[in-house]
Amino acid sequence: MNLSMKNFMTFRNLVYDRCGINFESKKIYFVKKRLVSRMEALDLETVEDYFRYLKFCDPKGTEFQELLNLLTTNETYMFREFDQLAVFAEDCLEEVCEKKKKQDNNQIRIWCAGCSTGEEAYTLAIILMEMLEPLRDWNIKIVATDIDTKVLSRARKGEYSPRSVKEVPDEYLDKYLRIAGGSYAVKSIVKKLIAFKHLNLMDTKQLKSAEQFDFVFCRNVLIYFDDASRKEVVNQFYEHLDSGGFVFLGHSESIGRISTSFTLRKMGGMIMYQKD
Ligand SMILES: C[S@@+](CC[C@H](N)C(=O)[O-])C[C@H]1O[C@@H](n2cnc3c(N)ncnc32)[C@H](O)[C@@H]1O
Repeated sequence: MNLSMKNFMTFRNLVYDRCGINFESKKIYFVKKRLVSRMEALDLETVEDYFRYLKFCDPKGTEFQELLNLLTTNETYMFREFDQLAVFAEDCLEEVCEKKKKQDNNQIRIWCAGCSTGEEAYTLAIILMEMLEPLRDWNIKIVATDIDTKVLSRARKGEYSPRSVKEVPDEYLDKYLRIAGGSYAVKSIVKKLIAFKHLNLMDTKQLKSAEQFDFVFCRNVLIYFDDASRKEVVNQFYEHLDSGGFVFLGHSESIGRISTSFTLRKMGGMIMYQKD
């Protein structure tokens, strides 16, 4: 299949407008490979046929979702960016819990945005189970969202390869996961704290119904966006955070340039963003 730069741009714009992911020109081969795969599945010959299919034969967006599932980058593992998680566990969580106790409020709400196959959400659940004392006094809910339906079904299953759990401390591995065949299965005491949901971070209409949170984790997601889409998403985080709540991004990501709404907090060599 020949994918001209013009056709690549048409396609690039479609993906960008719908979900904020920004493919630069050098990604033409990556995109082409995925287009070919979908065209073969539908028995379509040319890329023009495929565009027409998306435009006129896909009223519910089922095919676009199939394609999107091939285009997202889903790299993740449990206890990724361990040092940042330590600051969350030892500093930020304590600060928020102290505030909650004074307000006589026992709810802790976390939004794991761009959760991929679920490892990050399960990591956060394990940290809460370890840190909150006594655990039974707290009402915990983690909402984990992604645009990719394929990764969400794997997340709901919660079964992982040894590679995904390599950073999990041994004592947590025994306590919160069990070996099932050659893989590790997350125990139901952890699973029940999490609701996995399909959500496009660029869909402001869908986001309107989202609840309020104490923490937003959106790590290694905004790197795939440009500044304009990052700004829209970060504004949504601000809207859906309670005052005193924190945003955690990946180590190569920053919102300093695109939003001045948050107070920048430095703890343990890490940078977090807090709503006043
Ligand atoms: C590299 S993974 C990050 C996983 C995890 N947060 C971590 O840091 O290990 C990025 C995820 O963001 C999701 N994503 C990309 N664009 C999105 C959008 N517009 N709305 C929701 N999720 C999106 C992708 O499907 C992918 O699963």
